[in-house]
Amino acid sequence: MSFSPAPALPATVEVIPAIAADHAELVEWRRDLHAHPELGYAEHRTSRLVAERLAGFGLEPDVGLAETGVVATIHGRAPGPAIALRADLDALPMNEENTFAHASKHGGRMHACGHDGHTTMLLAAARHLAKTRDFAGTVHVVFQPAEEGGAGGRVMVEQGLFERFPAERVFGLHNWPALPAGRIAVHTGPAMAAVDLFTITVEGRGGHAAMPHQLRDPIVGGAHIVTALQTLVSRILDPTDPAVVSVTAFNGGTAHNVIPPRIELKGTVRSFSAKARDALEAGIARITRQICAGFELEPQIDYRRVYPATLNTAAEADLAARAAARVVGAAQVDRGLPPSMGGEDFAFMLHARPGCYVWLGTGQGPATAPLHHPRFDFLDAALPLGASYWVRLTETCLPCDP
Ligand code: NI
Repeated sequence: MSFSPAPALPATVEVIPAIAADHAELVEWRRDLHAHPELGYAEHRTSRLVAERLAGFGLEPDVGLAETGVVATIHGRAPGPAIALRADLDALPMNEENTFAHASKHGGRMHACGHDGHTTMLLAAARHLAKTRDFAGTVHVVFQPAEEGGAGGRVMVEQGLFERFPAERVFGLHNWPALPAGRIAVHTGPAMAAVDLFTITVEGRGGHAAMPHQLRDPIVGGAHIVTALQTLVSRILDPTDPAVVSVTAFNGGTAHNVIPPRIELKGTVRSFSAKARDALEAGIARITRQICAGFELEPQIDYRRVYPATLNTAAEADLAARAAARVVGAAQVDRGLPPSMGGEDFAFMLHARPGCYVWLGTGQGPATAPLHHPRFDFLDAALPLGASYWVRLTETCLPCDP
Protein backbone atom coordinates (compact mmCIF):
# COMPACT_ATOMS: atom_id res chain seq x y z
CA MET A 1 0.00 0.00 0.00
CA SER A 2 1.11 3.55 -0.56
CA PHE A 3 2.03 5.23 2.65
CA SER A 4 5.30 6.75 3.60
CA PRO A 5 6.61 5.87 7.06
CA ALA A 6 8.66 9.06 6.76
CA PRO A 7 8.22 11.93 8.15
CA ALA A 8 10.52 9.86 10.29
CA LEU A 9 10.23 9.82 14.04
CA PRO A 10 13.33 10.76 16.03
CA ALA A 11 15.88 8.00 16.59
CA THR A 12 15.11 8.11 20.32
CA VAL A 13 11.73 6.43 19.73
CA GLU A 14 11.65 2.74 20.64
CA VAL A 15 8.43 1.20 19.46
CA ILE A 16 7.70 -2.42 20.29
CA PRO A 17 9.05 -4.46 17.34
CA ALA A 18 5.97 -6.71 17.03
CA ILE A 19 3.77 -3.61 16.79
CA ALA A 20 6.11 -1.89 14.34
CA ALA A 21 5.88 -5.01 12.15
CA ASP A 22 2.10 -4.44 11.90
CA HIS A 23 2.44 -0.80 10.86
CA ALA A 24 1.03 -1.21 7.33
CA GLU A 25 -2.02 -3.02 8.68
CA LEU A 26 -2.60 -0.33 11.34
CA VAL A 27 -2.42 2.35 8.65
CA GLU A 28 -5.05 0.42 6.69
CA TRP A 29 -7.36 0.23 9.76
CA ARG A 30 -6.87 3.91 10.53
CA ARG A 31 -7.50 5.10 6.99
CA ASP A 32 -10.64 2.98 6.73
CA LEU A 33 -11.98 4.65 9.89
CA HIS A 34 -10.95 8.03 8.52
CA ALA A 35 -12.91 7.42 5.30
CA HIS A 36 -16.04 6.42 7.26
CA PRO A 37 -16.43 8.97 10.06
CA GLU A 38 -19.49 8.81 12.32
CA LEU A 39 -20.87 11.38 14.76
CA GLY A 40 -21.38 11.01 18.52
CA TYR A 41 -23.67 8.13 19.62
CA ALA A 42 -24.05 7.09 15.95
CA GLU A 43 -20.66 5.34 15.63
CA HIS A 44 -22.42 2.10 14.62
CA ARG A 45 -20.02 0.95 11.92
CA THR A 46 -16.98 2.01 13.95
CA SER A 47 -18.29 0.29 17.07
CA ARG A 48 -19.05 -2.91 15.13
CA LEU A 49 -15.58 -2.92 13.55
CA VAL A 50 -13.91 -2.41 16.92
CA ALA A 51 -15.93 -5.23 18.49
CA GLU A 52 -15.15 -7.56 15.56
CA ARG A 53 -11.44 -6.86 15.81
CA LEU A 54 -11.43 -7.38 19.59
CA ALA A 55 -13.29 -10.69 19.12
CA GLY A 56 -10.66 -11.61 16.53
CA PHE A 57 -7.99 -11.12 19.21
CA GLY A 58 -9.79 -13.74 21.33
CA LEU A 59 -11.47 -11.15 23.58
CA GLU A 60 -15.16 -10.85 24.49
CA PRO A 61 -16.19 -7.27 23.70
CA ASP A 62 -19.16 -5.73 25.49
CA VAL A 63 -21.10 -3.35 23.23
CA GLY A 64 -23.76 -0.84 24.23
CA LEU A 65 -22.57 1.27 27.15
CA ALA A 66 -23.56 4.80 26.05
CA GLU A 67 -25.14 3.30 22.89
CA THR A 68 -22.04 2.54 20.87
CA GLY A 69 -19.35 2.17 23.54
CA VAL A 70 -17.20 -0.97 23.46
CA VAL A 71 -15.25 -2.46 26.38
CA ALA A 72 -13.08 -5.58 26.44
CA THR A 73 -11.15 -7.11 29.29
CA ILE A 74 -7.67 -8.62 29.05
CA HIS A 75 -6.27 -10.69 31.91
CA GLY A 76 -2.54 -10.80 32.53
CA ARG A 77 -0.52 -13.93 33.24
CA ALA A 78 -0.78 -13.27 36.99
CA PRO A 79 -3.45 -11.73 39.23
CA GLY A 80 -3.21 -8.10 40.25
CA PRO A 81 -5.04 -4.77 40.17
CA ALA A 82 -7.03 -3.42 37.22
CA ILE A 83 -6.59 -0.40 34.99
CA ALA A 84 -8.68 1.06 32.16
CA LEU A 85 -7.29 2.49 28.90
CA ARG A 86 -9.62 4.72 26.94
CA ALA A 87 -9.92 5.81 23.28
CA ASP A 88 -12.66 7.85 21.60
CA LEU A 89 -14.63 6.81 18.50
CA ASP A 90 -16.43 9.84 17.10
CA ALA A 91 -15.84 12.37 14.32
CA LEU A 92 -16.81 16.04 13.92
CA PRO A 93 -19.76 17.57 12.02
CA MET A 94 -17.67 19.36 9.37
CA ASN A 95 -16.61 18.97 5.74
CA GLU A 96 -13.18 17.53 4.97
CA GLU A 97 -11.03 19.47 2.48
CA ASN A 98 -8.40 16.76 1.97
CA THR A 99 -8.43 15.06 -1.41
CA PHE A 100 -6.38 11.91 -0.68
CA ALA A 101 -7.92 8.48 -1.21
CA HIS A 102 -8.91 7.99 2.43
CA ALA A 103 -10.69 11.35 2.77
CA SER A 104 -14.18 11.23 4.29
CA LYS A 105 -16.81 9.59 2.12
CA HIS A 106 -19.52 11.49 4.01
CA GLY A 107 -20.26 15.20 3.58
CA GLY A 108 -20.57 16.99 6.90
CA ARG A 109 -18.54 14.42 8.84
CA MET A 110 -14.80 14.29 9.34
CA HIS A 111 -12.23 12.68 11.61
CA ALA A 112 -10.61 16.07 12.21
CA CYS A 113 -9.52 15.32 15.77
CA GLY A 114 -7.65 12.07 15.16
CA HIS A 115 -10.03 9.77 17.02
CA ASP A 116 -9.52 7.35 14.09
CA GLY A 117 -5.87 7.17 15.20
CA HIS A 118 -6.80 6.85 18.90
CA THR A 119 -9.12 3.93 18.15
CA THR A 120 -6.50 2.21 15.99
CA MET A 121 -3.70 2.60 18.57
CA LEU A 122 -5.80 1.12 21.37
CA LEU A 123 -6.85 -1.77 19.11
CA ALA A 124 -3.19 -2.45 18.29
CA ALA A 125 -2.31 -2.37 21.98
CA ALA A 126 -5.21 -4.71 22.83
CA ARG A 127 -4.02 -7.22 20.24
CA HIS A 128 -0.48 -7.11 21.60
CA LEU A 129 -1.55 -7.37 25.24
CA ALA A 130 -3.97 -10.22 24.47
CA LYS A 131 -1.09 -12.10 22.86
CA THR A 132 1.68 -11.44 25.38
CA ARG A 133 -0.34 -11.04 28.63
CA ASP A 134 2.94 -9.86 30.08
CA PHE A 135 1.40 -8.12 33.09
CA ALA A 136 -0.04 -8.96 36.49
CA GLY A 137 -3.65 -7.89 36.70
CA THR A 138 -6.45 -6.80 34.39
CA VAL A 139 -6.73 -4.25 31.59
CA HIS A 140 -10.06 -2.94 30.33
CA VAL A 141 -9.82 -1.31 26.92
CA VAL A 142 -12.59 1.30 26.69
CA PHE A 143 -13.80 2.74 23.36
CA GLN A 144 -16.13 5.63 24.15
CA PRO A 145 -18.57 7.42 21.86
CA ALA A 146 -19.36 11.12 21.60
CA GLU A 147 -16.26 12.87 22.93
CA GLU A 148 -16.93 15.93 20.75
CA GLY A 149 -19.47 17.73 22.92
CA GLY A 150 -21.70 14.72 23.60
CA ALA A 151 -20.11 13.78 26.94
CA GLY A 152 -19.93 10.09 26.05
CA GLY A 153 -17.35 9.69 28.81
CA ARG A 154 -19.84 10.97 31.39
CA VAL A 155 -22.60 8.71 30.05
CA MET A 156 -20.35 5.63 30.23
CA VAL A 157 -19.47 6.43 33.84
CA GLU A 158 -23.15 7.09 34.69
CA GLN A 159 -24.17 3.81 33.07
CA GLY A 160 -21.83 1.89 35.33
CA LEU A 161 -18.52 1.63 33.44
CA PHE A 162 -16.45 1.23 36.60
CA GLU A 163 -18.99 -0.98 38.38
CA ARG A 164 -19.15 -3.42 35.48
CA PHE A 165 -15.44 -3.11 34.67
CA PRO A 166 -13.81 -2.28 37.99
CA ALA A 167 -10.53 -0.40 37.60
CA GLU A 168 -8.39 1.39 40.15
CA ARG A 169 -6.85 3.72 37.57
CA VAL A 170 -7.85 5.12 34.19
CA PHE A 171 -5.68 6.50 31.39
CA GLY A 172 -6.31 8.47 28.21
CA LEU A 173 -4.29 10.09 25.45
CA HIS A 174 -4.79 12.61 22.67
CA ASN A 175 -2.68 13.22 19.59
CA TRP A 176 -1.19 16.71 19.79
CA PRO A 177 -0.10 18.38 16.52
CA ALA A 178 1.35 21.36 18.43
CA LEU A 179 3.90 18.99 20.03
CA PRO A 180 6.62 17.53 17.77
CA ALA A 181 6.21 13.84 16.87
CA GLY A 182 8.39 11.72 19.13
CA ARG A 183 7.53 13.73 22.27
CA ILE A 184 4.89 12.98 24.91
CA ALA A 185 3.57 15.60 27.34
CA VAL A 186 2.50 14.54 30.83
CA HIS A 187 0.87 17.10 33.14
CA THR A 188 0.59 16.72 36.89
CA GLY A 189 -2.72 18.32 37.84
CA PRO A 190 -4.59 20.32 35.17
CA ALA A 191 -4.17 19.18 31.55
CA MET A 192 -7.37 20.52 29.99
CA ALA A 193 -9.84 23.15 31.19
CA ALA A 194 -13.39 22.92 32.52
CA VAL A 195 -15.88 23.96 29.84
CA ASP A 196 -19.06 25.92 30.61
CA LEU A 197 -21.49 27.55 28.16
CA PHE A 198 -23.82 30.47 28.73
CA THR A 199 -26.70 32.13 26.90
CA ILE A 200 -27.96 35.50 28.07
CA THR A 201 -31.21 36.99 26.79
CA VAL A 202 -31.76 40.68 27.44
CA GLU A 203 -35.37 41.75 27.13
CA GLY A 204 -36.19 45.45 26.62
CA ARG A 205 -38.91 47.37 24.84
CA GLY A 206 -38.45 47.71 21.08
CA GLY A 207 -39.71 50.38 18.73
CA HIS A 208 -38.74 53.29 16.48
CA ALA A 209 -35.05 54.08 16.69
CA ALA A 210 -35.81 57.81 16.47
CA MET A 211 -37.61 57.75 19.84
CA PRO A 212 -35.30 55.77 22.15
CA HIS A 213 -36.63 57.63 25.21
CA GLN A 214 -39.89 55.72 24.82
CA LEU A 215 -38.08 52.38 24.66
CA ARG A 216 -35.66 50.29 26.68
CA ASP A 217 -32.75 49.48 24.38
CA PRO A 218 -31.38 45.94 24.84
CA ILE A 219 -28.51 46.59 22.39
CA VAL A 220 -26.91 49.24 24.58
CA GLY A 221 -27.48 47.06 27.64
CA GLY A 222 -26.00 44.02 25.87
CA ALA A 223 -22.94 46.02 24.80
CA HIS A 224 -22.33 47.06 28.42
CA ILE A 225 -22.65 43.44 29.53
CA VAL A 226 -20.09 42.27 26.94
CA THR A 227 -17.63 44.94 28.05
CA ALA A 228 -18.15 44.36 31.77
CA LEU A 229 -17.71 40.57 31.44
CA GLN A 230 -14.13 41.28 30.32
CA THR A 231 -13.36 42.43 33.85
CA LEU A 232 -14.15 39.06 35.46
CA VAL A 233 -10.85 37.42 34.59
CA SER A 234 -8.78 40.60 34.89
CA ARG A 235 -10.29 42.04 38.12
CA ILE A 236 -12.08 39.26 40.02
CA LEU A 237 -9.89 36.17 39.64
CA ASP A 238 -6.51 35.46 41.14
CA PRO A 239 -4.08 36.26 38.27
CA THR A 240 -2.23 32.99 38.91
CA ASP A 241 -5.43 30.96 38.32
CA PRO A 242 -5.95 30.87 34.53
CA ALA A 243 -9.41 31.27 33.02
CA VAL A 244 -11.15 32.59 29.90
CA VAL A 245 -14.53 34.27 29.40
CA SER A 246 -15.40 34.68 25.70
CA VAL A 247 -18.61 36.15 24.33
CA THR A 248 -18.99 34.47 20.96
CA ALA A 249 -22.39 35.63 19.68
CA PHE A 250 -24.35 38.89 19.89
CA ASN A 251 -27.66 38.50 18.06
CA GLY A 252 -30.41 41.07 17.75
CA GLY A 253 -31.94 43.62 15.44
CA THR A 254 -32.89 43.62 11.76
CA ALA A 255 -33.18 47.19 10.50
CA HIS A 256 -31.42 50.57 10.61
CA ASN A 257 -34.37 52.29 12.24
CA VAL A 258 -35.75 49.69 14.64
CA ILE A 259 -34.60 49.02 18.17
CA PRO A 260 -35.28 45.31 18.74
CA PRO A 261 -37.20 44.09 21.77
CA ARG A 262 -34.46 41.69 22.82
CA ILE A 263 -30.92 40.54 22.11
CA GLU A 264 -29.14 37.26 22.82
CA LEU A 265 -25.52 36.71 23.85
CA LYS A 266 -23.68 33.38 23.82
CA GLY A 267 -20.30 32.49 25.15
CA THR A 268 -18.01 30.04 26.86
CA VAL A 269 -16.09 29.95 30.13
CA ARG A 270 -12.86 27.95 30.65
CA SER A 271 -11.24 27.41 34.03
CA PHE A 272 -9.22 24.93 36.11
CA SER A 273 -10.00 25.52 39.78
CA ALA A 274 -13.41 25.10 41.42
CA LYS A 275 -12.88 28.54 42.97
CA ALA A 276 -12.46 30.22 39.56
CA ARG A 277 -15.37 28.30 38.07
CA ASP A 278 -17.73 29.29 40.90
CA ALA A 279 -16.55 32.92 40.83
CA LEU A 280 -17.09 33.19 37.07
CA GLU A 281 -20.57 31.67 37.12
CA ALA A 282 -21.62 33.95 39.97
CA GLY A 283 -19.87 36.96 38.39
CA ILE A 284 -21.62 36.57 35.03
CA ALA A 285 -25.00 36.47 36.78
CA ARG A 286 -24.18 39.42 39.04
CA ILE A 287 -22.86 41.71 36.29
CA THR A 288 -25.69 40.83 33.91
CA ARG A 289 -28.42 41.42 36.54
CA GLN A 290 -26.94 44.68 37.83
CA ILE A 291 -26.42 46.19 34.37
CA CYS A 292 -29.91 45.17 33.35
CA ALA A 293 -31.33 46.69 36.54
CA GLY A 294 -29.53 49.96 35.77
CA PHE A 295 -31.00 50.08 32.27
CA GLU A 296 -34.46 48.74 33.19
CA LEU A 297 -33.97 45.59 31.14
CA GLU A 298 -34.95 42.01 31.99
CA PRO A 299 -32.16 39.40 31.81
CA GLN A 300 -32.47 35.64 31.48
CA ILE A 301 -29.32 33.63 32.09
CA ASP A 302 -28.84 30.02 31.08
CA TYR A 303 -25.48 28.79 32.43
CA ARG A 304 -24.45 25.19 31.85
CA ARG A 305 -21.43 23.34 33.23
CA VAL A 306 -20.46 20.98 30.41
CA TYR A 307 -17.09 19.34 31.22
CA PRO A 308 -15.08 19.48 34.43
CA ALA A 309 -11.34 20.16 34.23
CA THR A 310 -9.11 17.25 33.19
CA LEU A 311 -6.98 16.79 36.30
CA ASN A 312 -4.19 14.19 36.35
CA THR A 313 -3.31 12.70 39.71
CA ALA A 314 0.37 12.84 40.68
CA ALA A 315 1.11 9.12 41.13
CA GLU A 316 -0.57 8.21 37.84
CA ALA A 317 1.17 11.08 36.01
CA ASP A 318 4.49 9.62 37.22
CA LEU A 319 3.51 6.15 35.96
CA ALA A 320 2.53 7.64 32.59
CA ALA A 321 5.80 9.57 32.37
CA ARG A 322 7.82 6.42 33.14
CA ALA A 323 5.95 4.48 30.44
CA ALA A 324 6.36 7.36 27.98
CA ALA A 325 10.10 7.49 28.68
CA ARG A 326 10.38 3.80 27.73
CA VAL A 327 8.95 4.64 24.29
CA VAL A 328 10.32 8.09 23.42
CA GLY A 329 13.24 8.46 25.84
CA ALA A 330 13.16 10.46 29.09
CA ALA A 331 14.43 13.66 27.45
CA GLN A 332 11.44 13.63 25.09
CA VAL A 333 8.85 13.52 27.90
CA ASP A 334 7.59 17.05 28.63
CA ARG A 335 6.50 17.44 32.26
CA GLY A 336 6.20 21.22 32.47
CA LEU A 337 4.03 22.35 29.55
CA PRO A 338 1.17 24.72 30.34
CA PRO A 339 -2.26 23.06 30.15
CA SER A 340 -4.68 23.70 27.29
CA MET A 341 -7.81 25.82 27.69
CA GLY A 342 -9.60 23.29 25.46
CA GLY A 343 -11.97 20.77 27.05
CA GLU A 344 -12.03 16.97 27.13
CA ASP A 345 -14.72 14.68 28.48
CA PHE A 346 -12.19 12.10 29.67
CA ALA A 347 -12.38 14.48 32.65
CA PHE A 348 -15.49 12.59 33.82
CA MET A 349 -13.53 9.34 34.01
CA LEU A 350 -10.75 11.15 35.89
CA HIS A 351 -13.33 12.42 38.37
CA ALA A 352 -14.39 8.82 38.97
CA ARG A 353 -10.89 7.29 39.24
CA PRO A 354 -7.31 8.53 39.61
CA GLY A 355 -5.48 8.56 36.33
CA CYS A 356 -3.63 10.49 33.65
CA TYR A 357 -4.33 11.92 30.20
CA VAL A 358 -1.26 12.56 28.03
CA TRP A 359 -0.56 14.41 24.79
CA LEU A 360 1.09 12.30 22.10
CA GLY A 361 3.17 14.59 19.88
CA THR A 362 2.18 14.36 16.20
CA GLY A 363 3.59 17.65 14.94
CA GLN A 364 5.67 17.75 11.76
CA GLY A 365 6.61 21.42 11.71
CA PRO A 366 4.61 24.49 10.76
CA ALA A 367 2.79 22.71 7.91
CA THR A 368 0.95 20.43 10.38
CA ALA A 369 -2.78 21.16 10.32
CA PRO A 370 -4.16 21.76 13.83
CA LEU A 371 -6.95 19.69 15.43
CA HIS A 372 -10.44 20.40 14.02
CA HIS A 373 -8.96 21.85 10.79
CA PRO A 374 -10.59 20.76 7.47
CA ARG A 375 -7.18 19.56 6.26
CA PHE A 376 -6.24 17.67 9.42
CA ASP A 377 -5.11 14.05 9.15
CA PHE A 378 -3.79 11.78 11.89
CA LEU A 379 -0.03 11.15 11.61
CA ASP A 380 0.23 7.48 10.60
CA ALA A 381 3.87 7.32 11.70
CA ALA A 382 2.64 7.77 15.29
CA LEU A 383 0.38 4.67 15.30
CA PRO A 384 3.00 2.17 16.56
CA LEU A 385 4.32 4.79 18.96
CA GLY A 386 0.95 5.35 20.66
CA ALA A 387 0.20 1.62 20.74
CA SER A 388 3.63 0.97 22.30
CA TYR A 389 2.90 3.63 24.94
CA TRP A 390 -0.31 1.79 25.95
CA VAL A 391 1.56 -1.50 26.24
CA ARG A 392 4.45 0.01 28.23
CA LEU A 393 1.95 1.81 30.47
CA THR A 394 0.21 -1.48 31.21
CA GLU A 395 3.52 -3.17 32.01
CA THR A 396 4.54 -0.21 34.19
CA CYS A 397 1.25 -0.10 36.13
CA LEU A 398 0.87 -3.87 36.42
CA PRO A 399 4.43 -5.28 36.60
CA CYS A 400 4.84 -9.06 36.72
CA ASP A 401 7.81 -8.68 39.08
CA PRO A 402 7.07 -5.65 41.22
NI1 NI B 1 -10.31 14.91 20.22
